[in-house]
Amino acid sequence: MDTTTLNPDKVDAFVGQFVTDFGAALFAPLVVLGDRLGLYKALAAGGRQTAADISTRTGIRERSVAEWLRANAAAGYVTYDAPTDSYALSPEQEFTLADESSPAFLPGAFQIALSVGRDIDRITDALRSGRGYGWDEHDALLFEGTERFFRPGYAANLVDSWLPSLDGVVDKLVAGARVADVGCGHGASTILMAQAYPASRFVGFDFHAASIDAARKRAAEAGVADRVTFQVAGADDFPGKDYDLVTLFDCFHDMGRPIDAARHIARALSPGGTLLLVEPQAGHDVADNLNPVGRVFYSASTTICTLNAIRYGAADSPVLGAQASDADLERALAAGGLTSVRLATSTPFNRVFEVRP
Ligand SMILES: C[S@@+](CC[C@H](N)C(=O)[O-])C[C@H]1O[C@@H](n2cnc3c(N)ncnc32)[C@H](O)[C@@H]1O
Repeated sequence: MDTTTLNPDKVDAFVGQFVTDFGAALFAPLVVLGDRLGLYKALAAGGRQTAADISTRTGIRERSVAEWLRANAAAGYVTYDAPTDSYALSPEQEFTLADESSPAFLPGAFQIALSVGRDIDRITDALRSGRGYGWDEHDALLFEGTERFFRPGYAANLVDSWLPSLDGVVDKLVAGARVADVGCGHGASTILMAQAYPASRFVGFDFHAASIDAARKRAAEAGVADRVTFQVAGADDFPGKDYDLVTLFDCFHDMGRPIDAARHIARALSPGGTLLLVEPQAGHDVADNLNPVGRVFYSASTTICTLNAIRYGAADSPVLGAQASDADLERALAAGGLTSVRLATSTPFNRVFEVRP
């Protein structure tokens, strides 16, 4: 190329962005390590501490702890006090990194990122061949990371905001409703609903057997196994009829045959039943999504969501992807007979639709 046409300021700016991004990529394993080794929780437990203090609390060598702390301070994930060579978590850092009950507990997100790295050779082959790559073929870190990253948002929003945004649904759940949570993964959403509405009966379906095993364990641990069951089944063939509520949390856009899924759900709903469809936040077209949130979703969609849809789709199935627009979703739903679609509420990360035949 002709380098005389380069604008040096723009090259500098791009290299600056690259350093930020490269640092973030190299830092991702440190967040998972801090989470696994209890380093963030040790910081939270003791206020301002030196590397030696954290080493004593966790049993990790002081020299390794010091390097981890320095990287975290450089990243803005811990605060550093130079005069005392000590570290602490601000309340906001503790809220997002050390408190598993927080609605904004973030470390699971980095497990998702690392899972893609573990699968990179097979994902390369899947892209090269055009065969796609199923959800079930990913490293198990993806399933655990998804549960841990999504659950806090569901805990914060599902019962308090999303279900009440639907017409008449909460009354039915309180009185006792039949609910199918389709594509339920580890069952975080299913269990939260079951805890809130003891008179209702819930069944979670997912085509990934290992996720259903995990969901059953979670339900037993949560003490709701009397009202929740989990079963391996696809969105286009799950059993049962007359569901008052069917839910799809962050999975419709992953599906190989979303139109068949919509058609099956339309038939499985009771008269007057509702589909709650939760999808990632997205604008109307590509240009609306070229921002940090869009980068997260398009990146995950390239290596995870669209590859699953390709793997299990028919040649003419839409591959929706994590940034499917309202119009894309409405088209797929309508093709399956679900023609009434209303955006009931939203968050910075999610759109919540009330859908009916
Ligand atoms: C991003 S995960 C979301 C899991 C869960 N709903 C949650 O929010 O934690 C997508 C899920 O959809 C499931 N899935 C994808 N296609 C499916 C299909 N056709 N039928 C049933 N489950 C499907 C995957 O196995 C995976 O568990």
